[in-house]
Amino acid sequence: MIFLDLARILSGVVVLLVSVSYARTGSLTWGCESRWLYPGYVMFRLFSGPRVFTDDELAFYDGRNGSRIFLALNGTVYDVSARPEMYGPGSTYSMLAARDATRAFVNGCMRDDAQLTYDLRGLDQTKAEEAIRKWKEFFDSKPRYWVVGRVEHDPAKLDSDIPPFCDQPTYF
Ligand code: HEM
Repeated sequence: MIFLDLARILSGVVVLLVSVSYARTGSLTWGCESRWLYPGYVMFRLFSGPRVFTDDELAFYDGRNGSRIFLALNGTVYDVSARPEMYGPGSTYSMLAARDATRAFVNGCMRDDAQLTYDLRGLDQTKAEEAIRKWKEFFDSKPRYWVVGRVEHDPAKLDSDIPPFCDQPTYF
């Protein structure tokens, strides 16, 4: 019985703290930003940990059928499930999910399937490195996203033709 009372008091305190925080800061957590506030991150840290994906394995994580949403940038795989409205099926940037589309991150040609690749051949190397650095900084800096591993690409795919040049970005 005492445990029930304690549980009631505790949940009352939590509800009060969350409500006051929301009223005063617009955030449920007093503005505190941490990956540990995301259940997906807690599950990842406790039960799975970083892994190595193939491109085919990565293709599963597009948010369909309740899957998590992953994207890769220059081989690093991020969990971006926190923003299904940005990366989930039918969303603005869904084409970046479930694959390593680093080339499109660099040139912005996101509506052209041939550009949705990790193949950076033919791009200005300095510009590509700079864009990749910026996007990496972006994803690393957001507590709502985290690294879940890396994708190992099939080197044979880079024996094919260089993707066509694209200087007409089509963002969405
Ligand atoms: C190389 C070109 C671009 C790339 C690779 C790109 C990619 C992205 C990505 C990945 C996001 C999601 C960010 C997140 O996870 O919070 C985003 C958000 C957004 N982008 Fe772009 N984008 C590009 C250019 C543009 C341009 C030119 C515009 C404006 C016309 C634009 C407008 C937006 C807006 C409004 C958001 C939503 C921001 C938010 O609500 O947090 N993007 N972009």
